[in-house]
Amino acid sequence: MKKSFPNIRLRRLRANSSIRNLVRENVLSPFDLIQPLFVIEGKGKIEKIKSMPSITRMSIDNIVKEVKVLKKLGIQAIALFPYISKKLKNLSGSESYNPKGLIQNCIQEIKDKVNDMIIISDIALDPYTSHGQDGILNKNGKILNDETIEILVNQSLSHAVSGSDIIAPSDMMDGRIKVIRKALEKEGHKETMILSYSAKYSSNFYGPFRDAVGSNKNLGSSKKDTYQMDFSNKKDAIREIELDISEGADMIMVKPGMPYLDIVSLANKSFNVPILAYQVSGEYSMIKAACKNKWLEEKSVVLESLTCFKRAGANAIITYYAKEAAKWIK
Ligand code: PBG
Repeated sequence: MKKSFPNIRLRRLRANSSIRNLVRENVLSPFDLIQPLFVIEGKGKIEKIKSMPSITRMSIDNIVKEVKVLKKLGIQAIALFPYISKKLKNLSGSESYNPKGLIQNCIQEIKDKVNDMIIISDIALDPYTSHGQDGILNKNGKILNDETIEILVNQSLSHAVSGSDIIAPSDMMDGRIKVIRKALEKEGHKETMILSYSAKYSSNFYGPFRDAVGSNKNLGSSKKDTYQMDFSNKKDAIREIELDISEGADMIMVKPGMPYLDIVSLANKSFNVPILAYQVSGEYSMIKAACKNKWLEEKSVVLESLTCFKRAGANAIITYYAKEAAKWIK
């Protein structure tokens, strides 16, 4: 051995599980996990989603039961998404602000029957439009920004009235946070938080989600590239986040997750607000498929992937694995 052989041996800190436990920088807890839930009309219903094994759409009564289970597992928040029947969809997505609509009813039921579960409700028109886009269109198929915001404000207010804790605009229209915040204040919803999907990319990983909410067929081969961000870009994410914070967002979201951890890290370094990240449907389905084939070991792969979100700087993670991961952590 050379005389100059280093005194520094990094392996000392990895020598056994006790020392590894002691110096570990990030520890995953059920508090970090948010479970998305898909809601359908009816009673006693549970429907499978083909492209998302183990994930289901549930009617409100079953959602309430599920939320109680999640609460017992230590999960603090859920994110609700509706599957709207075809006959309620139209060009302007007007069902989105029906005060007695599916999501509005679901929010009220959960608030009535379960204590202390934070409800995050999605603000966007895609489950409600006959064309599957997040905004309304002009004659030439262009998404109309300011006209869409008027509907998003109605949708936000209807969720706040129903009892939603966190309004989460995922539509990517310009300027919507400011207008939504102003409307919430004006109508007395001062405590309703806004989680802005600020850095939301036009991603190919959303396919299974669009099956789950039933917007895939309507959308057809159309893309969302004129409002969601180009996945080649980073500076654009910073500008979006900056603007949304200045317009009144309490928290911001980066989405998708695993291929975008550089953006999570950058956002965490650059901004003094909580950063959330979304491990989206395509990420879930990829892991699930590989594990079903026994190419990967599910529990370790999932817990690793979620811990990596924390290492990158996410305060919390929306993941379809929330329930299972919370069980594994316990
Ligand atoms: C809709 C919305 C999408 C997701 C969350 N809200 C899809 C989209 O923008 O087309 C994707 C979530 C996922 O893939 O898990 N505004």
